[in-house]
Amino acid sequence: MSTLITHIGTLLGIREDGKLRLRGAELRETGSLNDAWLICQDGEIKDYGPMAELPDHAGMVTIDARGGHVIPAYCDSHTHIVFAQTREGEFQDRIAGLSYEQIAQRGGGILNSVEKLRAMPEEELYEASYRRCLEIMQQGTGSIEIKSGYGLDTASELKMLRVARRLGEALPLQVKTTLLAAHAYPREFADDHAGYIDLICDEIIPHVAEEGLADYIDAFCERGYFDAQETERILEAGQKYGLRPKVHVNQFSSCGGIQSSLKYDALSVDHLEVMEGSDLEDVCQSDTIATALPACSFFIDIPYTPARDIIDSNGLLALATDYNPGSSPTGNMSFVLSLACIRMNMHPIEALNAATLNGAAAMELSDTTGSITRGKRADLIITRPMKEFALLPYRFADRMIERVVLNGRPV
Ligand code: NIG
Ligand code: FE
Repeated sequence: MSTLITHIGTLLGIREDGKLRLRGAELRETGSLNDAWLICQDGEIKDYGPMAELPDHAGMVTIDARGGHVIPAYCDSHTHIVFAQTREGEFQDRIAGLSYEQIAQRGGGILNSVEKLRAMPEEELYEASYRRCLEIMQQGTGSIEIKSGYGLDTASELKMLRVARRLGEALPLQVKTTLLAAHAYPREFADDHAGYIDLICDEIIPHVAEEGLADYIDAFCERGYFDAQETERILEAGQKYGLRPKVHVNQFSSCGGIQSSLKYDALSVDHLEVMEGSDLEDVCQSDTIATALPACSFFIDIPYTPARDIIDSNGLLALATDYNPGSSPTGNMSFVLSLACIRMNMHPIEALNAATLNGAAAMELSDTTGSITRGKRADLIITRPMKEFALLPYRFADRMIERVVLNGRPV
C-alpha cells in the first residue's frame, strides 16, 4: 500500500548523511524542504520532493498536510508505561507538603505501585497499558522503551515484561524492553538487601533472559536504593546475558552511578538532575547517551538536567518522558520538547533531534527510525499549519499535532 502526503509546509528532520546519533553542535543541524510531498510504501519512507515536481500518484491514498510540518515521530527511550494504577493520592500528599522522597520513605511511591501491580491479572494490566499506548501514539510517539520494576519478584517482573513485549507485537509502535528489578527493595526483602540482589542476579535475570523478554538492564542507582557497588553487580550479571545497561543515575544525588554505568558500556544514563565533580565531563566524553527527563523535574519539582551544558560539552543528549505514575504521569513528548526549550534552554531543533534520532539511538533503533530518511520506517507526525517549527514547543499546552502515521499508516 502507498500513501502520498501532499502540501507539506516544511518537511523537517531530513537526514541522508547516515548519521545515527548526534553529538554537541550536531544537534542543531537538520535537513528541511519547504512545500513538499512524501510517499510511504510498505511501511517505509519511499521518497519525497518539492510540490513543483509531484510524481504520478494514481491509486495512492492521499493525505493533504495543508501547510503543516511533517517531522519524524517521537522516540521515547525511557518509560514505565506498564503499571497498574495512577497515584493521584500521593500527588495530593505532595500538595499538602510531603516530598517525593518522604512519600517513598513512608512506604508509598514505587512500593505502592508494586502492591497494585502484583495483584492485577496480566490481561487487565495489558488492557490498561494498551490504552495508554494508543494515547501516546495519538500524541506522536512511534517507538518506546518500557521498563519493568513494579513487580520486584520473578513472576511479577516476567508478567510486566510479557505485557511490554505483547504491546510491541499488537501495535504499530516499536517497543524495546528493560529489566528494572533493581528499582527498589520489595517489602519481603526490606531487611535483606543482599538477598534481593542475589535473587535478581541468580534468578530474575536468568529467567528473563531465557524467555528473551528484555533487551536491556537497568538499576535505580541512588542514595537509599542501589549504591554504585550494588548497581555494578547487577549490570555485570545482566552483561553475562547480553543485556546492555540503561541506568537511572543522579536523580537526587551523585553517588558514582555515571562512572559505574560507563564501566559497563551503558547505552544510556538517564535523569542526571544532580551532577557533581567529574560527572558532566565523564558522560560527555563517553559514547553513552545522556537522557534528560524534564517532565519528571517539572512534576516532582527537582532540578532540571543541565542539558545546555551537556550539549555545549559535546555530549550525546536524548529527551524522554519517564512516563510513570509517581514522578511523571504523562507520555506527551510535545510537552517534553516545550520543557526542554523553556527550562533547559534548548533550541527547538536541538529538542526535536534529541526526541527523535537520539531517542531512537538510545533504543538502538536509529537505523530504522528517528529521521526523514528514504528506506526508514514511515513514522511521521503531521502538525497543524505552522510557519516555523518553534511554534510547537512554544504552544506548550496546546495540541499542535494534526495526524500521526506509524509504519506507513495513519493511527
Ligand atoms: O524514573 N526514579 C525511579 N523511578 C521512576 C519513578 C518511579 C515511581 O515513582 O513510580 C523515575 O522517576
Ligand atoms: Fe524512570
